[in-house]
Amino acid sequence: MTALSPILRGLALLTLCLVSLNAGVQAFSQGDTTTRDSLQSNPRILVLGGGVAGIIAARTLHQNGLDNFLIIEARDEIGGRLRSHTFGNGTTIELGANWVQGTQVGGGPSNPIWDLARKHNVTTVFNDYSSIITYDEAGPVDYIDVVDDAVDNLDKITELAGERVAGNLVDLNARAGYSLVGAKPQSPHARAAEYWNFDWEYGDTPSGSSLVAAGLNNNFTFDTDQGGFSDENRLSIDQRGFKTIITEEAKAFLRPSQLLLNSTVKSVRYGNSGVQVTLANGTSISGDYVLCTFSLGVLQNDDVEFDPELPDWKMEAIQSLTMTTYTKIFLKYERKFWFDTEMGLYADKERGRYPVWQSLDHPKFLQGSGILFVTVTGQYSERIEALPDRQVQSEVMGVLRSMFPKTDIPPASDFFFPRWHSDPLYRGSYSNWPASFTRDHHDNFRASVSVGGRERLWFAGEATSFKYFGFLHGAYTEGLDVAQEMIKCIRRGQCTGLSHFDEVRNVHPYGTN
Ligand SMILES: Cc1cc2nc3c(=O)[nH]c(=O)nc-3n(C[C@H](O)[C@H](O)[C@H](O)COP(=O)(O)OP(=O)(O)OC[C@H]3O[C@@H](n4cnc5c(N)ncnc54)[C@H](O)[C@@H]3O)c2cc1C
Ligand SMILES: *[C@@H]1O[C@H](CO)[C@@H](O)[C@H](O)[C@H]1NC(C)=O
Ligand SMILES: *[C@@H]1O[C@H](CO)[C@@H](O)[C@H](O)[C@H]1NC(C)=O
Ligand SMILES: *[C@@H]1O[C@H](CO)[C@@H](O)[C@H](O)[C@H]1NC(C)=O
Ligand SMILES: *[C@@H]1O[C@H](CO)[C@@H](O)[C@H](O)[C@H]1NC(C)=O
Ligand SMILES: *[C@@H]1O[C@H](CO)[C@@H](O)[C@H](O)[C@H]1NC(C)=O
Repeated sequence: MTALSPILRGLALLTLCLVSLNAGVQAFSQGDTTTRDSLQSNPRILVLGGGVAGIIAARTLHQNGLDNFLIIEARDEIGGRLRSHTFGNGTTIELGANWVQGTQVGGGPSNPIWDLARKHNVTTVFNDYSSIITYDEAGPVDYIDVVDDAVDNLDKITELAGERVAGNLVDLNARAGYSLVGAKPQSPHARAAEYWNFDWEYGDTPSGSSLVAAGLNNNFTFDTDQGGFSDENRLSIDQRGFKTIITEEAKAFLRPSQLLLNSTVKSVRYGNSGVQVTLANGTSISGDYVLCTFSLGVLQNDDVEFDPELPDWKMEAIQSLTMTTYTKIFLKYERKFWFDTEMGLYADKERGRYPVWQSLDHPKFLQGSGILFVTVTGQYSERIEALPDRQVQSEVMGVLRSMFPKTDIPPASDFFFPRWHSDPLYRGSYSNWPASFTRDHHDNFRASVSVGGRERLWFAGEATSFKYFGFLHGAYTEGLDVAQEMIKCIRRGQCTGLSHFDEVRNVHPYGTN
Protein backbone atom coordinates (compact mmCIF):
# COMPACT_ATOMS: atom_id res chain seq x y z
CA MET A 1 0.00 0.00 0.00
CA THR A 2 1.43 3.27 -1.10
CA ALA A 3 -0.72 6.23 -0.49
CA LEU A 4 -4.13 6.37 1.10
CA SER A 5 -6.57 8.89 -0.14
CA PRO A 6 -6.89 11.83 2.20
CA ILE A 7 -10.33 10.64 3.22
CA LEU A 8 -9.12 7.14 4.00
CA ARG A 9 -6.17 8.55 5.86
CA GLY A 10 -8.50 10.64 7.94
CA LEU A 11 -10.63 7.63 8.69
CA ALA A 12 -7.62 5.57 9.72
CA LEU A 13 -6.47 8.31 12.02
CA LEU A 14 -9.95 8.62 13.49
CA THR A 15 -10.04 4.88 14.09
CA LEU A 16 -6.66 5.00 15.77
CA CYS A 17 -7.86 7.83 17.92
CA LEU A 18 -11.03 6.04 18.82
CA VAL A 19 -9.10 2.94 19.70
CA SER A 20 -6.66 4.78 21.89
CA LEU A 21 -9.41 6.92 23.40
CA ASN A 22 -11.38 3.80 24.09
CA ALA A 23 -8.35 2.15 25.65
CA GLY A 24 -7.78 5.29 27.70
CA VAL A 25 -11.32 5.34 28.95
CA GLN A 26 -11.18 1.68 29.74
CA ALA A 27 -7.91 2.04 31.56
CA PHE A 28 -9.24 5.09 33.40
CA SER A 29 -12.50 3.50 34.38
CA GLN A 30 -10.79 0.29 35.39
CA GLY A 31 -8.32 2.25 37.43
CA ASP A 32 -11.12 4.25 38.90
CA THR A 33 -13.07 1.14 39.84
CA THR A 34 -10.04 -0.38 41.50
CA THR A 35 -9.21 2.89 43.22
CA ARG A 36 -12.76 3.36 44.36
CA ASP A 37 -12.96 -0.18 45.69
CA SER A 38 -9.71 0.05 47.57
CA LEU A 39 -10.56 3.56 48.69
CA GLN A 40 -13.71 2.11 50.20
CA SER A 41 -12.44 -1.19 51.51
CA ASN A 42 -8.75 -0.78 52.21
CA PRO A 43 -7.63 2.85 52.04
CA ARG A 44 -4.16 3.85 53.18
CA ILE A 45 -4.69 6.22 56.12
CA LEU A 46 -1.79 8.22 57.51
CA VAL A 47 -2.41 9.17 61.14
CA LEU A 48 -0.09 12.05 61.99
CA GLY A 49 0.85 12.05 65.68
CA GLY A 50 0.85 9.30 68.31
CA GLY A 51 -0.83 11.14 71.19
CA VAL A 52 -4.16 10.20 72.73
CA ALA A 53 -6.16 11.36 69.69
CA GLY A 54 -3.93 9.50 67.19
CA ILE A 55 -3.88 6.23 69.15
CA ILE A 56 -7.64 6.23 69.82
CA ALA A 57 -8.34 7.09 66.17
CA ALA A 58 -6.13 4.17 65.08
CA ARG A 59 -7.91 1.85 67.50
CA THR A 60 -11.24 2.96 66.02
CA LEU A 61 -10.03 2.27 62.46
CA HIS A 62 -8.79 -1.15 63.55
CA GLN A 63 -12.09 -1.99 65.27
CA ASN A 64 -13.84 -1.17 62.00
CA GLY A 65 -11.61 -3.42 59.93
CA LEU A 66 -9.51 -0.64 58.43
CA ASP A 67 -6.00 -1.79 59.27
CA ASN A 68 -4.12 -0.21 56.41
CA PHE A 69 -3.08 2.77 58.52
CA LEU A 70 0.27 4.14 59.60
CA ILE A 71 0.83 6.33 62.67
CA ILE A 72 3.71 8.74 62.12
CA GLU A 73 5.24 10.15 65.31
CA ALA A 74 8.27 12.41 65.76
CA ARG A 75 9.25 11.21 69.20
CA ASP A 76 10.63 7.82 70.17
CA GLU A 77 7.47 6.89 72.07
CA ILE A 78 3.72 7.37 71.87
CA GLY A 79 1.65 9.40 74.37
CA GLY A 80 2.27 12.97 73.19
CA ARG A 81 1.41 15.40 75.94
CA LEU A 82 1.17 12.47 78.36
CA ARG A 83 4.85 12.70 79.11
CA SER A 84 6.80 11.46 82.08
CA HIS A 85 10.30 12.21 83.24
CA THR A 86 12.64 10.65 85.77
CA PHE A 87 13.56 13.19 88.38
CA GLY A 88 15.65 13.40 91.53
CA ASN A 89 16.45 9.96 92.62
CA GLY A 90 14.46 7.92 90.17
CA THR A 91 10.98 9.31 90.77
CA THR A 92 8.62 9.44 87.80
CA ILE A 93 7.03 12.88 87.47
CA GLU A 94 4.53 14.14 84.89
CA LEU A 95 5.60 17.04 82.68
CA GLY A 96 2.28 17.16 80.85
CA ALA A 97 -1.15 15.86 81.82
CA ASN A 98 -1.29 14.65 85.41
CA TRP A 99 -4.95 14.43 86.46
CA VAL A 100 -7.98 12.48 85.40
CA GLN A 101 -10.35 15.46 85.46
CA GLY A 102 -13.88 14.36 86.24
CA THR A 103 -14.41 10.64 86.94
CA GLN A 104 -17.89 9.19 87.40
CA VAL A 105 -20.76 9.40 89.87
CA GLY A 106 -22.83 6.26 90.40
CA GLY A 107 -24.00 4.91 87.08
CA GLY A 108 -23.62 8.28 85.34
CA PRO A 109 -21.39 8.99 82.34
CA SER A 110 -17.76 8.11 82.97
CA ASN A 111 -14.72 9.94 81.72
CA PRO A 112 -13.10 7.60 79.15
CA ILE A 113 -9.68 8.48 80.61
CA TRP A 114 -10.92 7.23 83.97
CA ASP A 115 -12.05 4.02 82.25
CA LEU A 116 -8.57 3.59 80.75
CA ALA A 117 -6.88 4.26 84.11
CA ARG A 118 -9.00 1.56 85.73
CA LYS A 119 -8.59 -0.88 82.85
CA HIS A 120 -4.79 -0.61 82.95
CA ASN A 121 -4.50 -0.34 86.72
CA VAL A 122 -2.88 3.08 86.59
CA THR A 123 -2.54 4.46 90.13
CA THR A 124 -4.39 7.73 90.66
CA VAL A 125 -5.21 9.49 93.92
CA PHE A 126 -8.00 11.96 94.71
CA ASN A 127 -6.48 15.44 94.84
CA ASP A 128 -8.36 17.51 97.42
CA TYR A 129 -8.31 21.12 96.22
CA SER A 130 -9.60 22.30 99.60
CA SER A 131 -6.42 21.00 101.24
CA ILE A 132 -4.66 24.31 100.68
CA ILE A 133 -2.73 26.82 102.78
CA THR A 134 -2.15 30.47 101.86
CA TYR A 135 0.98 32.64 101.76
CA ASP A 136 2.09 36.03 100.57
CA GLU A 137 5.35 37.95 100.44
CA ALA A 138 5.34 38.16 104.25
CA GLY A 139 5.04 34.39 104.81
CA PRO A 140 2.04 32.33 105.85
CA VAL A 141 -1.10 34.51 105.97
CA ASP A 142 -4.61 33.14 106.22
CA TYR A 143 -6.84 34.45 103.44
CA ILE A 144 -8.86 31.26 102.94
CA ASP A 145 -12.04 33.40 103.04
CA VAL A 146 -10.81 35.19 99.91
CA VAL A 147 -10.10 31.82 98.26
CA ASP A 148 -13.66 30.69 99.11
CA ASP A 149 -15.01 33.91 97.56
CA ALA A 150 -13.07 33.14 94.37
CA VAL A 151 -14.72 29.70 94.22
CA ASP A 152 -18.14 31.40 94.51
CA ASN A 153 -17.16 33.93 91.85
CA LEU A 154 -16.30 31.19 89.37
CA ASP A 155 -19.74 29.66 90.02
CA LYS A 156 -21.31 33.06 89.40
CA ILE A 157 -19.60 33.62 86.05
CA THR A 158 -20.46 30.05 85.01
CA GLU A 159 -24.12 30.87 85.70
CA LEU A 160 -23.80 34.16 83.86
CA ALA A 161 -22.36 32.21 80.91
CA GLY A 162 -25.42 29.95 81.04
CA GLU A 163 -27.73 32.96 80.91
CA ARG A 164 -25.92 34.27 77.86
CA VAL A 165 -26.25 30.91 76.11
CA ALA A 166 -29.96 30.68 77.01
CA GLY A 167 -30.60 34.26 75.88
CA ASN A 168 -28.60 33.82 72.67
CA LEU A 169 -26.50 36.83 73.73
CA VAL A 170 -23.07 37.68 72.39
CA ASP A 171 -20.04 36.17 74.14
CA LEU A 172 -17.93 38.29 76.50
CA ASN A 173 -14.51 37.64 77.90
CA ALA A 174 -14.37 36.14 81.36
CA ARG A 175 -12.89 39.36 82.78
CA ALA A 176 -16.06 41.22 81.78
CA GLY A 177 -18.03 38.35 83.30
CA TYR A 178 -16.20 38.65 86.63
CA SER A 179 -16.73 42.41 86.70
CA LEU A 180 -20.44 42.02 85.92
CA VAL A 181 -20.92 39.69 88.91
CA GLY A 182 -19.07 42.22 91.06
CA ALA A 183 -15.76 40.35 91.32
CA LYS A 184 -13.01 42.94 90.80
CA PRO A 185 -9.93 41.59 92.55
CA GLN A 186 -7.90 44.52 93.87
CA SER A 187 -5.47 42.88 96.29
CA PRO A 188 -2.67 40.36 95.69
CA HIS A 189 -4.68 37.88 97.79
CA ALA A 190 -7.80 38.27 95.65
CA ARG A 191 -5.77 38.09 92.46
CA ALA A 192 -3.96 34.92 93.57
CA ALA A 193 -7.27 33.34 94.56
CA GLU A 194 -8.80 34.21 91.19
CA TYR A 195 -5.70 32.91 89.39
CA TRP A 196 -5.93 29.60 91.25
CA ASN A 197 -9.57 29.21 90.22
CA PHE A 198 -9.29 30.39 86.66
CA ASP A 199 -5.83 30.63 85.04
CA TRP A 200 -4.59 27.49 86.72
CA GLU A 201 -7.36 25.54 84.91
CA TYR A 202 -7.56 27.29 81.54
CA GLY A 203 -3.85 28.15 81.30
CA ASP A 204 -4.94 31.65 80.34
CA THR A 205 -6.18 34.88 81.91
CA PRO A 206 -9.87 35.79 82.27
CA SER A 207 -9.38 38.59 79.73
CA GLY A 208 -7.97 36.10 77.22
CA SER A 209 -10.81 33.62 77.69
CA SER A 210 -14.35 33.31 76.40
CA LEU A 211 -16.90 33.56 79.23
CA VAL A 212 -19.30 31.20 77.48
CA ALA A 213 -16.73 28.59 76.42
CA ALA A 214 -15.09 28.60 79.87
CA GLY A 215 -18.49 28.04 81.48
CA LEU A 216 -19.49 25.26 79.09
CA ASN A 217 -16.09 23.59 79.30
CA ASN A 218 -16.30 23.55 83.09
CA ASN A 219 -19.86 22.22 83.12
CA PHE A 220 -19.45 19.50 80.48
CA THR A 221 -16.62 17.94 82.48
CA PHE A 222 -17.34 18.65 86.14
CA ASP A 223 -21.08 19.33 86.54
CA THR A 224 -23.20 16.18 86.63
CA ASP A 225 -26.36 18.31 86.16
CA GLN A 226 -24.95 19.34 82.78
CA GLY A 227 -23.84 15.89 81.60
CA GLY A 228 -20.43 16.14 83.27
CA PHE A 229 -18.53 13.22 84.83
CA SER A 230 -17.87 14.46 88.39
CA ASP A 231 -16.06 17.28 90.15
CA GLU A 232 -13.22 14.99 91.22
CA ASN A 233 -9.61 15.41 90.05
CA ARG A 234 -7.36 12.40 90.49
CA LEU A 235 -3.59 12.76 90.28
CA SER A 236 -1.61 9.99 88.63
CA ILE A 237 1.33 8.87 90.77
CA ASP A 238 1.90 5.70 88.78
CA GLN A 239 5.64 5.13 88.50
CA ARG A 240 5.25 3.66 85.00
CA GLY A 241 4.01 7.12 84.01
CA PHE A 242 0.48 8.36 83.35
CA LYS A 243 1.14 7.57 79.65
CA THR A 244 0.63 3.91 80.59
CA ILE A 245 -3.10 4.43 79.94
CA ILE A 246 -2.29 4.86 76.26
CA THR A 247 0.82 2.66 75.80
CA GLU A 248 -1.05 -0.30 77.33
CA GLU A 249 -4.15 0.42 75.25
CA ALA A 250 -2.02 0.48 72.09
CA LYS A 251 -0.33 -2.85 72.89
CA ALA A 252 -3.65 -4.62 72.49
CA PHE A 253 -4.17 -3.70 68.83
CA LEU A 254 -1.21 -1.91 67.25
CA ARG A 255 1.20 -3.88 65.08
CA PRO A 256 4.84 -2.70 64.80
CA SER A 257 4.37 -2.12 61.06
CA GLN A 258 1.56 0.35 61.81
CA LEU A 259 3.76 2.73 63.81
CA LEU A 260 6.64 4.87 62.61
CA LEU A 261 8.57 6.45 65.50
CA ASN A 262 11.43 8.99 65.31
CA SER A 263 9.79 10.40 62.18
CA THR A 264 9.12 14.12 62.00
CA VAL A 265 6.63 15.27 59.38
CA LYS A 266 7.77 18.29 57.39
CA SER A 267 5.06 18.59 54.76
CA VAL A 268 1.70 17.22 53.74
CA ARG A 269 0.71 17.31 50.07
CA TYR A 270 -2.85 16.55 49.14
CA GLY A 271 -4.46 16.36 45.72
CA ASN A 272 -6.74 14.42 43.42
CA SER A 273 -4.65 11.31 43.53
CA GLY A 274 -4.19 11.18 47.29
CA VAL A 275 -1.87 12.42 49.99
CA GLN A 276 1.88 12.46 50.37
CA VAL A 277 3.66 13.09 53.65
CA THR A 278 7.33 14.05 53.59
CA LEU A 279 9.54 13.46 56.62
CA ALA A 280 12.43 15.58 57.85
CA ASN A 281 14.91 13.05 56.44
CA GLY A 282 13.43 13.41 52.94
CA THR A 283 11.46 10.17 52.82
CA SER A 284 7.98 10.46 51.31
CA ILE A 285 5.03 8.31 52.28
CA SER A 286 1.88 8.09 50.15
CA GLY A 287 -1.65 7.42 51.20
CA ASP A 288 -5.30 8.06 50.49
CA TYR A 289 -6.24 10.08 53.57
CA VAL A 290 -4.48 12.01 56.31
CA LEU A 291 -5.73 12.39 59.87
CA CYS A 292 -3.66 15.18 61.44
CA THR A 293 -3.58 15.23 65.25
CA PHE A 294 -0.79 17.77 65.71
CA SER A 295 -1.39 20.38 68.39
CA LEU A 296 -3.01 23.72 67.65
CA GLY A 297 0.39 25.31 68.36
CA VAL A 298 2.07 23.20 65.67
CA LEU A 299 -0.62 24.15 63.13
CA GLN A 300 -0.33 27.84 64.05
CA ASN A 301 3.42 28.00 63.67
CA ASP A 302 3.95 26.51 60.21
CA ASP A 303 6.06 23.68 61.64
CA VAL A 304 4.38 21.51 59.05
CA GLU A 305 3.82 22.78 55.52
CA PHE A 306 0.57 22.00 53.72
CA ASP A 307 0.62 21.91 49.94
CA PRO A 308 -1.58 23.44 48.69
CA GLU A 309 -1.91 25.85 51.60
CA LEU A 310 -4.89 25.19 53.83
CA PRO A 311 -7.95 27.17 52.73
CA ASP A 312 -8.62 30.61 54.20
CA TRP A 313 -11.57 29.42 56.30
CA LYS A 314 -9.28 26.81 57.93
CA MET A 315 -6.39 29.24 58.49
CA GLU A 316 -8.68 31.80 60.10
CA ALA A 317 -9.96 29.18 62.55
CA ILE A 318 -6.45 27.91 63.35
CA GLN A 319 -5.10 31.38 64.02
CA SER A 320 -8.11 32.48 66.08
CA LEU A 321 -7.93 29.83 68.80
CA THR A 322 -5.33 30.27 71.56
CA MET A 323 -2.56 27.83 72.45
CA THR A 324 -1.79 28.39 76.12
CA THR A 325 1.16 27.21 78.17
CA TYR A 326 1.07 25.51 81.57
CA THR A 327 4.45 24.96 83.19
CA LYS A 328 5.25 22.83 86.20
CA ILE A 329 8.58 23.65 87.83
CA PHE A 330 9.94 20.77 89.91
CA LEU A 331 12.23 20.99 92.94
CA LYS A 332 13.74 18.14 94.88
CA TYR A 333 15.06 18.44 98.45
CA GLU A 334 16.69 15.97 100.80
CA ARG A 335 13.94 16.60 103.32
CA LYS A 336 10.49 18.14 103.20
CA PHE A 337 10.36 21.55 104.95
CA TRP A 338 7.05 22.83 103.59
CA PHE A 339 3.30 22.57 104.22
CA ASP A 340 1.43 19.38 105.12
CA THR A 341 -1.55 20.25 102.94
CA GLU A 342 -1.74 19.08 99.32
CA MET A 343 -1.28 22.62 98.01
CA GLY A 344 -0.04 26.07 98.87
CA LEU A 345 -1.15 29.34 97.28
CA TYR A 346 1.32 32.22 97.12
CA ALA A 347 0.17 35.81 96.46
CA ASP A 348 2.84 37.99 94.89
CA LYS A 349 2.41 41.69 94.05
CA GLU A 350 2.66 40.54 90.44
CA ARG A 351 -0.31 38.41 89.37
CA GLY A 352 0.74 34.93 88.20
CA ARG A 353 4.25 35.00 89.70
CA TYR A 354 4.95 31.46 91.05
CA PRO A 355 1.46 31.18 92.57
CA VAL A 356 0.36 27.54 92.90
CA TRP A 357 2.49 25.03 94.81
CA GLN A 358 1.84 21.30 95.03
CA SER A 359 3.50 18.83 97.34
CA LEU A 360 4.25 15.34 96.08
CA ASP A 361 5.88 14.54 99.41
CA HIS A 362 2.52 13.90 101.01
CA PRO A 363 1.15 10.71 102.58
CA LYS A 364 -1.40 10.43 99.73
CA PHE A 365 1.11 10.94 96.92
CA LEU A 366 4.84 10.16 96.93
CA GLN A 367 5.77 10.41 100.58
CA GLY A 368 9.49 10.65 101.14
CA SER A 369 10.11 11.82 97.59
CA GLY A 370 11.21 15.32 98.67
CA ILE A 371 9.47 16.76 95.60
CA LEU A 372 7.59 20.05 95.42
CA PHE A 373 6.41 21.81 92.27
CA VAL A 374 5.08 25.22 91.36
CA THR A 375 3.01 26.08 88.28
CA VAL A 376 3.02 29.16 86.08
CA THR A 377 0.95 29.75 82.95
CA GLY A 378 0.46 31.89 79.85
CA GLN A 379 2.75 34.88 79.43
CA TYR A 380 4.65 33.98 82.58
CA SER A 381 5.49 30.57 81.10
CA GLU A 382 6.76 32.21 77.94
CA ARG A 383 8.84 34.56 80.07
CA ILE A 384 10.59 31.81 82.03
CA GLU A 385 11.15 29.68 78.94
CA ALA A 386 13.34 32.47 77.62
CA LEU A 387 15.47 32.50 80.79
CA PRO A 388 18.30 30.17 81.77
CA ASP A 389 17.31 27.50 84.33
CA ARG A 390 19.67 29.08 86.87
CA GLN A 391 17.76 32.35 86.91
CA VAL A 392 14.36 30.67 87.18
CA GLN A 393 15.67 28.54 90.02
CA SER A 394 16.94 31.58 91.90
CA GLU A 395 13.60 33.39 91.46
CA VAL A 396 11.74 30.33 92.73
CA MET A 397 14.11 30.09 95.69
CA GLY A 398 13.43 33.76 96.46
CA VAL A 399 9.70 33.05 96.59
CA LEU A 400 10.22 30.03 98.84
CA ARG A 401 12.24 32.22 101.23
CA SER A 402 9.32 34.69 101.33
CA MET A 403 6.86 31.89 102.01
CA PHE A 404 9.03 30.34 104.75
CA PRO A 405 10.87 33.26 106.34
CA LYS A 406 11.81 31.22 109.45
CA THR A 407 13.27 28.28 107.54
CA ASP A 408 16.84 28.04 106.40
CA ILE A 409 16.11 26.62 102.97
CA PRO A 410 18.88 24.46 101.51
CA PRO A 411 19.64 24.51 97.79
CA ALA A 412 17.48 22.11 95.79
CA SER A 413 19.28 18.89 94.90
CA ASP A 414 17.45 18.77 91.58
CA PHE A 415 15.52 21.28 89.50
CA PHE A 416 13.63 20.86 86.23
CA PHE A 417 10.94 22.39 84.08
CA PRO A 418 9.80 21.58 80.53
CA ARG A 419 9.62 24.25 77.81
CA TRP A 420 6.30 23.38 76.13
CA HIS A 421 5.94 26.74 74.38
CA SER A 422 9.30 26.53 72.57
CA ASP A 423 8.98 22.84 71.70
CA PRO A 424 8.31 22.58 67.94
CA LEU A 425 6.28 19.40 68.51
CA TYR A 426 3.77 21.20 70.77
CA ARG A 427 4.26 25.03 70.87
CA GLY A 428 2.33 25.23 74.11
CA SER A 429 0.32 22.98 76.38
CA TYR A 430 -3.35 23.07 75.32
CA SER A 431 -5.98 25.18 73.60
CA ASN A 432 -8.26 27.84 75.07
CA TRP A 433 -11.15 29.76 73.50
CA PRO A 434 -10.89 33.51 73.38
CA ALA A 435 -14.18 35.48 73.25
CA SER A 436 -13.69 36.24 69.55
CA PHE A 437 -13.68 32.55 68.64
CA THR A 438 -17.17 31.57 67.53
CA ARG A 439 -18.96 28.26 67.13
CA ASP A 440 -18.59 28.62 63.34
CA HIS A 441 -14.84 29.04 63.77
CA HIS A 442 -14.85 25.88 65.80
CA ASP A 443 -16.69 23.94 63.10
CA ASN A 444 -14.12 25.19 60.61
CA PHE A 445 -11.22 24.20 62.85
CA ARG A 446 -12.65 20.68 63.03
CA ALA A 447 -13.84 20.37 59.42
CA SER A 448 -12.22 18.11 56.86
CA VAL A 449 -10.60 19.59 53.76
CA SER A 450 -11.55 18.21 50.37
CA VAL A 451 -9.90 18.28 47.01
CA GLY A 452 -11.57 17.17 43.81
CA GLY A 453 -14.66 16.21 45.80
CA ARG A 454 -12.85 13.86 48.17
CA GLU A 455 -12.27 14.61 51.85
CA ARG A 456 -8.53 14.02 52.00
CA LEU A 457 -7.50 15.86 55.17
CA TRP A 458 -8.99 15.36 58.61
CA PHE A 459 -8.17 16.93 61.96
CA ALA A 460 -8.55 15.66 65.53
CA GLY A 461 -7.08 16.44 68.95
CA GLU A 462 -7.98 18.12 72.21
CA ALA A 463 -8.42 21.43 70.38
CA THR A 464 -11.09 20.10 68.00
CA SER A 465 -13.29 19.13 70.95
CA PHE A 466 -16.22 21.48 71.52
CA LYS A 467 -17.13 20.06 74.92
CA TYR A 468 -13.76 19.07 76.33
CA PHE A 469 -11.10 21.24 74.68
CA GLY A 470 -7.85 21.24 76.66
CA PHE A 471 -8.46 17.89 78.34
CA LEU A 472 -7.19 14.36 77.76
CA HIS A 473 -10.79 13.22 77.39
CA GLY A 474 -11.20 15.85 74.65
CA ALA A 475 -8.33 14.24 72.72
CA TYR A 476 -9.86 10.80 73.35
CA THR A 477 -13.40 11.62 72.25
CA GLU A 478 -12.14 13.45 69.16
CA GLY A 479 -9.87 10.56 68.13
CA LEU A 480 -12.94 8.35 68.37
CA ASP A 481 -15.54 10.68 66.80
CA VAL A 482 -13.45 12.00 63.92
CA ALA A 483 -12.25 8.49 63.03
CA GLN A 484 -15.91 7.37 62.97
CA GLU A 485 -16.78 10.27 60.65
CA MET A 486 -13.89 9.27 58.39
CA ILE A 487 -15.09 5.68 58.32
CA LYS A 488 -18.63 6.74 57.37
CA CYS A 489 -17.18 8.88 54.62
CA ILE A 490 -14.88 6.13 53.35
CA ARG A 491 -17.56 3.47 53.35
CA ARG A 492 -20.04 5.60 51.47
CA GLY A 493 -17.51 6.28 48.74
CA GLN A 494 -18.80 9.78 48.37
CA CYS A 495 -19.39 11.99 51.34
CA THR A 496 -19.59 15.52 52.57
CA GLY A 497 -17.13 15.10 55.43
CA LEU A 498 -17.25 17.48 58.36
CA SER A 499 -18.65 20.64 56.86
CA HIS A 500 -17.36 24.18 57.12
CA PHE A 501 -18.50 27.76 56.56
CA ASP A 502 -16.71 29.56 53.73
CA GLU A 503 -16.88 32.78 55.72
CA VAL A 504 -17.59 33.41 59.37
CA ARG A 505 -19.84 36.44 59.48
CA ASN A 506 -20.70 39.01 62.08
CA VAL A 507 -24.29 40.08 61.59
CA HIS A 508 -23.76 43.62 62.86
CA PRO A 509 -20.18 44.77 62.38
CA TYR A 510 -19.78 48.16 64.00
CA GLY A 511 -23.38 49.28 63.77
CA THR A 512 -23.95 48.51 60.12
CA ASN A 513 -26.80 46.12 59.47
C1 LIG B 1 1.56 20.74 81.06
C2 LIG B 1 0.25 20.12 80.68
C3 LIG B 1 -0.65 19.74 81.66
C4 LIG B 1 -1.86 19.14 81.32
N1 LIG B 1 -2.67 18.68 82.30
C5 LIG B 1 -3.76 17.95 81.99
C6 LIG B 1 -4.46 17.25 82.99
O1 LIG B 1 -4.06 17.23 84.16
N2 LIG B 1 -5.60 16.57 82.64
C7 LIG B 1 -6.04 16.54 81.34
O2 LIG B 1 -7.08 15.93 81.08
N3 LIG B 1 -5.33 17.15 80.35
C8 LIG B 1 -4.20 17.82 80.65
N4 LIG B 1 -3.44 18.37 79.65
C9 LIG B 1 -3.92 18.29 78.27
C10 LIG B 1 -3.66 16.93 77.62
O3 LIG B 1 -2.34 16.54 77.84
C11 LIG B 1 -3.92 17.08 76.12
O4 LIG B 1 -5.24 17.55 75.93
C12 LIG B 1 -3.78 15.77 75.33
O5 LIG B 1 -2.69 15.00 75.76
C13 LIG B 1 -3.65 16.12 73.85
O6 LIG B 1 -3.60 14.94 73.06
P1 LIG B 1 -3.58 15.05 71.47
O7 LIG B 1 -3.54 13.67 70.96
O8 LIG B 1 -4.65 15.95 71.03
O9 LIG B 1 -2.22 15.83 71.11
P2 LIG B 1 -0.68 15.43 71.38
O10 LIG B 1 -0.54 14.68 72.64
O11 LIG B 1 0.09 16.70 71.24
O12 LIG B 1 -0.35 14.45 70.17
C14 LIG B 1 0.19 14.90 68.96
C15 LIG B 1 1.44 14.11 68.64
O13 LIG B 1 2.01 14.63 67.43
C16 LIG B 1 3.43 14.59 67.54
N5 LIG B 1 3.98 15.58 66.58
C17 LIG B 1 3.90 16.93 66.64
N6 LIG B 1 4.48 17.48 65.56
C18 LIG B 1 4.93 16.46 64.79
C19 LIG B 1 5.60 16.38 63.54
N7 LIG B 1 5.93 17.48 62.84
N8 LIG B 1 5.89 15.16 63.02
C20 LIG B 1 5.53 14.02 63.70
N9 LIG B 1 4.91 14.04 64.89
C21 LIG B 1 4.61 15.25 65.44
C22 LIG B 1 3.70 14.94 68.98
O14 LIG B 1 4.96 14.47 69.38
C23 LIG B 1 2.53 14.23 69.69
O15 LIG B 1 2.91 12.93 70.11
C24 LIG B 1 -2.19 18.94 79.96
C25 LIG B 1 -1.28 19.30 78.98
C26 LIG B 1 -0.06 19.85 79.32
C27 LIG B 1 0.94 20.16 78.25
C1 LIG C 1 14.51 6.29 68.02
O1 LIG C 1 15.68 7.04 68.31
C2 LIG C 1 16.26 6.71 69.56
C3 LIG C 1 17.45 7.64 69.80
O2 LIG C 1 17.23 8.90 69.32
C4 LIG C 1 16.69 5.27 69.57
O3 LIG C 1 17.20 4.93 70.83
C5 LIG C 1 15.48 4.38 69.26
O4 LIG C 1 15.90 3.06 69.13
C6 LIG C 1 14.79 4.82 67.99
N1 LIG C 1 13.56 4.05 67.86
C7 LIG C 1 13.12 3.59 66.71
C8 LIG C 1 11.87 2.79 66.76
O5 LIG C 1 13.68 3.81 65.66
C1 LIG D 1 -2.49 -2.78 90.32
O1 LIG D 1 -1.64 -1.78 90.89
C2 LIG D 1 -1.41 -1.95 92.26
C3 LIG D 1 -0.64 -0.73 92.76
O2 LIG D 1 0.26 -0.24 91.82
C4 LIG D 1 -0.66 -3.25 92.47
O3 LIG D 1 -0.43 -3.43 93.83
C5 LIG D 1 -1.49 -4.40 91.89
O4 LIG D 1 -0.77 -5.61 91.98
C6 LIG D 1 -1.86 -4.14 90.44
N1 LIG D 1 -2.79 -5.16 89.97
C7 LIG D 1 -2.74 -5.69 88.76
C8 LIG D 1 -3.79 -6.67 88.42
O5 LIG D 1 -1.86 -5.37 87.94
C1 LIG E 1 -23.39 25.52 84.14
O1 LIG E 1 -24.09 24.81 85.13
C2 LIG E 1 -24.77 25.62 86.06
C3 LIG E 1 -25.28 24.76 87.18
O2 LIG E 1 -25.82 23.55 86.73
C4 LIG E 1 -25.84 26.38 85.33
O3 LIG E 1 -26.52 27.24 86.22
C5 LIG E 1 -25.22 27.22 84.23
O4 LIG E 1 -26.22 27.82 83.46
C6 LIG E 1 -24.35 26.38 83.33
N1 LIG E 1 -23.58 27.25 82.45
C7 LIG E 1 -23.40 26.98 81.16
C8 LIG E 1 -22.58 27.92 80.39
O5 LIG E 1 -23.86 25.99 80.63
C1 LIG F 1 13.91 8.27 57.05
O1 LIG F 1 12.99 7.88 58.08
C2 LIG F 1 12.21 6.76 57.72
C3 LIG F 1 11.16 6.57 58.81
O2 LIG F 1 11.63 6.83 60.10
C4 LIG F 1 13.11 5.55 57.56
O3 LIG F 1 12.33 4.42 57.21
C5 LIG F 1 14.10 5.85 56.47
O4 LIG F 1 15.03 4.79 56.36
C6 LIG F 1 14.87 7.13 56.74
N1 LIG F 1 15.64 7.48 55.58
C7 LIG F 1 16.90 7.93 55.66
C8 LIG F 1 17.55 8.28 54.38
O5 LIG F 1 17.46 8.06 56.74
C1 LIG G 1 15.81 8.24 97.16
O1 LIG G 1 14.47 7.84 97.30
C2 LIG G 1 14.24 6.80 98.25
C3 LIG G 1 12.77 6.44 98.18
O2 LIG G 1 11.94 7.56 98.08
C4 LIG G 1 14.68 7.27 99.62
O3 LIG G 1 14.51 6.22 100.53
C5 LIG G 1 16.14 7.72 99.57
O4 LIG G 1 16.51 8.25 100.82
C6 LIG G 1 16.32 8.76 98.49
N1 LIG G 1 17.71 9.16 98.40
C7 LIG G 1 18.10 10.42 98.25
C8 LIG G 1 19.56 10.65 98.14
O5 LIG G 1 17.30 11.33 98.19
